[in-house]
Amino acid sequence: MTEERLMDKIIDVCLRRGFISQTAEIYGGAGGFYEYGPLGTLMRQKIIDLWRQSFVLDEDRVFEIKGSVLMPESVFQASGHLDSFDDPLVQCEKCKSMFKADELIKKITGKTAEGLPLDDLDELIKENQIACPNCQGGLSKARQFNLMFKTEIGSTGGINGYLRPETAQNIFINFKRLAAFMRNKLPFGIAQTGPSFRNEISPRNFIIRVREFEQMEIEMFYDPEKENEHPRFDEVADLEINIVTREMQEKGWEKPMQVSAGVAVAEGVIPNQYLAYYLAMEAEMMRALGIPDTEFWFRHMQDHEAPHYSIGNFDLEANLSIGHMEIVGNALRTDYDLMKHAKASKSSFEIVVDNKKIVPHVAEPSLGVDRILYTVLEKCFREDERGWTWFQFPTIVAPLEVAVYPLMKKDGLAELAYEIHSELKDAGYLSFYDESGKIGKRYARADEIGIPYCITIDYETKDKYTVTMRDRDSMKQIRIPTEDLEVVLGELMEGESEFDEFSEINKE
Ligand code: GAP
Repeated sequence: MTEERLMDKIIDVCLRRGFISQTAEIYGGAGGFYEYGPLGTLMRQKIIDLWRQSFVLDEDRVFEIKGSVLMPESVFQASGHLDSFDDPLVQCEKCKSMFKADELIKKITGKTAEGLPLDDLDELIKENQIACPNCQGGLSKARQFNLMFKTEIGSTGGINGYLRPETAQNIFINFKRLAAFMRNKLPFGIAQTGPSFRNEISPRNFIIRVREFEQMEIEMFYDPEKENEHPRFDEVADLEINIVTREMQEKGWEKPMQVSAGVAVAEGVIPNQYLAYYLAMEAEMMRALGIPDTEFWFRHMQDHEAPHYSIGNFDLEANLSIGHMEIVGNALRTDYDLMKHAKASKSSFEIVVDNKKIVPHVAEPSLGVDRILYTVLEKCFREDERGWTWFQFPTIVAPLEVAVYPLMKKDGLAELAYEIHSELKDAGYLSFYDESGKIGKRYARADEIGIPYCITIDYETKDKYTVTMRDRDSMKQIRIPTEDLEVVLGELMEGESEFDEFSEINKE
């Protein structure tokens, strides 16, 4: 399978089966905007739920907020986004196509050029004789292009507003009230999930680089003098994480180093426990989503690659068919944002710790829902000798968990199947009912969208009160009493039992 084709195959299933499609498709689409259909929406929700459970609800001192998506210019003036949230743009002098200069250089030369000054980018373009990939025309000099979407607030266009480029700023500007809610004690975390917007120069690669995307962020506030006293670090200290250090990048790396979170902090590979805690948590989340350890790592970004607010980023990158891609940004934002907003708003964001006034520091895990979802799609995509394509989703992210089929519509089988489907829904399973087409075709359709289990209702269900359960991954089938269905499904989905533990009756 060639690399490009893998993304195309996934796009094809996504369009046909209600996962994802382009915004305003009937009018020719809008570059960088996508809509999630019924199955895509269910998957997104599951990814958000998984994050919310482990990063927010399971924590003692982390709470979630919901801030405004559109904010006045003053916020982004202070945060530095107006001045610094830019990408380098080059334009074809002939066909007028626009390109992100560093991306174009990387595509042509394979060299990373992110964060380089404009002059260096111009030099690289010249040195490598890079022309417009569309028409071979010459390219303009690189210039900075601000990524924020601007609008006006009020009927008379009173003040400028911007769509937020990250969810984080709501948290910083509300710091005083949030800190008061947390009784002005450190550490504490404020989480937020919601849409962010960036007017990307060249949105590409399906949902990987888009202009509207969903982030799940936490701003974790801590005392910098206690950066290695994270209250729950012991719980993750032994978890293994894959890391690519700056030194490894300079020498050229083939494989990340594997190290426990505890050792990584002790040996100074990761700067502090607050950041390391989140790297370990993210690695666990990726594993739960079915992404093998070999397929992702945390790369210590070079100084010039880090965003304007960060003194160091450890970004989670995935090995995708389109190349290595940042899926999660992990930043040490220090007191950068709080100091900027304190100064601009003439407020004080100090907290008293051990009789000292301090401005807390911030560790920030910033997870992108869309990129995580695409990574899951790609890593779970399967093709087999039957000529079927299917998704091997873990149940935790499968958009539908069980399909219920009557073998035939007649003789009351449809009614009985529908009753069982309704009971499963009442019990909280994401159940899908389908009565049309040959049973083999229905299995293929269920596999294609990654439904882990199919239940078939036949004449024996009527006579002997048993159903057939089919396992997507092994294609094995078992016969179980109808009354055991919910318990068996529950055990399988929770990973408490393996399908093979139940008696096998036949294979397809
Ligand atoms: N608050 C920090 C922040 O926004 P970032 O590294 O710029 O950090 C975090 O973004 C995550 O948001 C990325 O790792 C990615 O998953 C997602 N993201 C950023 N820009 C995106 C885009 N244009 N399309 C899709 N996802 C994007």
